[in-house]
Amino acid sequence: MTERRLLLLNGPNLNLLGTRQPEIYGAGTLAEIVDRVRAVAAEHGLEIRAVQSNHEGELVDAIQAARADCAGIIINPAAYSHTSVAIADALAAVELPVAEVHLSNIARREAFRHHSYVSAVADTVISGAGPLGYEFAVRYLAERLAG
Ligand code: DQA
Repeated sequence: MTERRLLLLNGPNLNLLGTRQPEIYGAGTLAEIVDRVRAVAAEHGLEIRAVQSNHEGELVDAIQAARADCAGIIINPAAYSHTSVAIADALAAVELPVAEVHLSNIARREAFRHHSYVSAVADTVISGAGPLGYEFAVRYLAERLAG
């Protein structure tokens, strides 16, 4: 592997973490999650490109751009998990290892959250571990890239 960079992609409304339904998503902010992800990635000699967007097309653009200079993708597609064929198609197209993260356990929530289009193209899905899920995702990708 030449690239030592992971794309960390967060979808709609995750910019509101900290104030958004903390009983479901916790009290931590997205900035805190990104800081932690960067620290864990650094332990593995990896750097992080962090992108958050509320717009489906921007998420697709970021995934496509990753093909050129990233070695893997950590994505919390948020609500687009349940609706977006475009994001799933982009992830399949770039052929990078993908770790899908959800702060909450989507299987334990409303029925409309039970299906994720992204899960069909993800290499691993971590759901319900809170911010720790992002840390698992970094370690998973680091190990995959090493071996
Ligand atoms: C989420 C779960 C989604 O169902 C929801 O739309 C989100 C966040 C999570 O991290 O638990 O915005 O992806």
